[in-house]
Amino acid sequence: MMKNYPEFKNVSVIVTGVASGIGRAQAEKFLLEGAFVFGGDINDNEAVKNLKRRFPQTFRFKLCDVTELEQVKQFADAALHFLGGCEILLNTAGILDAYKPTLETDEELWDKIMNTNLKSIFRLTNAVLPSMLKQSHGVIINMASIAGMVAGGGGAAYTAAKHAIIGYTKQLDYDYAKSGIRACSIAPGAINTPMNAADFAGDAHMARQVAEETPAGRWAKPEEVAELTLFLASPRADYIHGANVPIDGGWVEK
Ligand code: NAI
Repeated sequence: MMKNYPEFKNVSVIVTGVASGIGRAQAEKFLLEGAFVFGGDINDNEAVKNLKRRFPQTFRFKLCDVTELEQVKQFADAALHFLGGCEILLNTAGILDAYKPTLETDEELWDKIMNTNLKSIFRLTNAVLPSMLKQSHGVIINMASIAGMVAGGGGAAYTAAKHAIIGYTKQLDYDYAKSGIRACSIAPGAINTPMNAADFAGDAHMARQVAEETPAGRWAKPEEVAELTLFLASPRADYIHGANVPIDGGWVEK
């Protein structure tokens, strides 16, 4: 296979949310380029088994609930041990909040969304960053959303968490750029993954409506977000610092 990014051969990558959608696509693309990938998820499924079968030497998986501090620490330790360090950290795991407005958001939902989507990124970053600083090199790509830029992409908790991810990523980059670290966030729009299965249920009326409201007139595949991730993580994007990059078919241009 022709490599698009030969510079990723033997590079070490950690990714959360690897069992589905965007995280799975990111892992696969890095593996196809010859990178070593350590993936985590609360779910160990057929997608994970498929990656293990196809990339027995370069892919490892560990169950990890990113809302549990101890599990995050153990996941990071295991990953750093297998990879011998980490050059690229992809914080991708996340969940939706059923588009609940604030009055329909109880404490439990708020905490679950904040812990899964936001605090998890803070925790895993803090667990991995020291090893990146030791090697004076590292790239961190955090999965935000158009819900991190405008209203309507989620409910109160999801939108707040995604806005916070974009802010956190900027500060992270600001504080560590001179130490060799680069951090960016990605803001996907309508990506066809299991997260949006409800939109495609029945006659897929919701999915069609979303496509119509998107200037590009369609949903994107998770592989398109993975493609952007590889570019942002590569040395070709070395001057792109703290940026939030939309990949949304024009959603936020409206
Ligand atoms: P997905 O539902 O296909 O995959 C998310 C993965 O995260 C699943 O494998 C799930 O098991 C895992 N996960 C959930 N909670 C976890 C936890 N506590 N610990 C460990 N793993 C956990 O969703 P998708 O679409 O791939 O989403 C990935 C990221 O992209 C999320 O952060 C999401 O908010 C973001 N995003 C997705 C968009 C879309 O349209 N699909 C649009 C904008 C952002």
